[in-house]
Amino acid sequence: MIEQDFHFPDDFIWGTTTAAYQIEGAADEDGKGPSIWDTFARKRGFVRNSDNGDVACDHYHRWQGDIDLMRELNTGAYRFSISWPRIYPEGRGRVNQPGLDFYSRLVDGLLDAGITPFVTLYHWDLPEALQTEGGWPERKIVDDYLAYADTVTRALGDRVKHWVTFNEPWTFTWLGYVLGMHAPGLPSGNPMLAMAATHHAYLAHGAAIPMIHANAPGSQAGISLNLVQVESASDSAEDRAAAARFDGFNNRWYLDPLFRGEYPADMVEKYGMFMPEVRPGDMEQIATPMDFFGVNYYTRGVIADEPEQLLLQARQVEQEGVEHTDSGWEVYPHGLYALLRRVHDEYTSLPLYVTESGAAFADTVSADGEIHDDRRTAYLDGHFRAAQQALDEGVPVKGYFVWSLMDNFEWAEGYSKRFGVYYVDYPTQRRTLKDSGRFLARVATGVNLPTK
Ligand code: FCB
Repeated sequence: MIEQDFHFPDDFIWGTTTAAYQIEGAADEDGKGPSIWDTFARKRGFVRNSDNGDVACDHYHRWQGDIDLMRELNTGAYRFSISWPRIYPEGRGRVNQPGLDFYSRLVDGLLDAGITPFVTLYHWDLPEALQTEGGWPERKIVDDYLAYADTVTRALGDRVKHWVTFNEPWTFTWLGYVLGMHAPGLPSGNPMLAMAATHHAYLAHGAAIPMIHANAPGSQAGISLNLVQVESASDSAEDRAAAARFDGFNNRWYLDPLFRGEYPADMVEKYGMFMPEVRPGDMEQIATPMDFFGVNYYTRGVIADEPEQLLLQARQVEQEGVEHTDSGWEVYPHGLYALLRRVHDEYTSLPLYVTESGAAFADTVSADGEIHDDRRTAYLDGHFRAAQQALDEGVPVKGYFVWSLMDNFEWAEGYSKRFGVYYVDYPTQRRTLKDSGRFLARVATGVNLPTK
């Protein structure tokens, strides 16, 4: 039994996170157009077991019940994403009103339940129609994103006051356009595409901030990055330099433009001919001040020098004798503390949210019908403590969103990885609260907490 000796402040926000393609299903319903994930996952062999999101958790039809799940957790906030091709089936032009209506009902349902919606505008499901024109590596996509963001924030801005412009630019640009592991599945091996895609997503992000403020009066806007706690495999100068390059690749390339208005000089030199076209005014636009910053944290990377490795001359050193999740990621709560501190100390005094944190484990339903996911509970406990430590030291951590509300479509891993605090039995779509969910509910409620 884990001791409940947390002391988060009363106004601390607890929540869970999901993303449209991972839970909604209803891939072709009510006028929705195809996204790059529909196309990618429907091709055989790209996703494990050839799974796809056609049905997923059927959240599109079960959203009311899913709000009840959140109620049971006592989490006061919920972060979800909007499916762009539900709103613009052809990517731009004609608005599909039933798509907007779905999210409008969802928002009303959340607010009725006393749950604050945090809405992510882009969590990777680009309309296929825009990918056929090149997708994120083409600069004109900035205008398409802004038209979409304008429509959504106008429609929901009277009720939604927390907006996340993008989820994890590193992930969808590198895995999608260079490594081919995510949609649109281009194994181009060409870093230039990720560079350009990131630059355009960042231009869109910066321009969206004032638009969100205008359309959603009194709102707060930010972005969620996947930060990796990077550590050197040894004290050697070579390994330390490799770790600095890896950190540049994963973290600084994304943090520096937002908070310093520049790409990090060492990496600019390293990327050389892969650099995106930066026009006058771009960096100022990218660095448009935000209202909060979101950290998605899953693991650390221990990095060694590797002269043979093409782009970074670095490699990740697997750690022996430590716990790994079912995704193969090392369990390393201290990394969350270290990253929150670092963002605060080196980059910004903005309010911080942990916008994702969680773990996949191979859950089983016990004879008693329950899911005794002790390892996930311990994972959450350790990471909550890490956030609390940062908070205790004065880092303005305002909230914590667990990935995920329920088991769902884990991208290239399909349904094989379970991250939920609710277990989903996919054939029946039955959701069952796991022990980790009970733990989250107790923490979110503040039960058994010592008086402050
Ligand atoms: C993050 C993604 C999220 C989920 C978790 C496990 O990188 O943002 O959609 O897949 O990983």
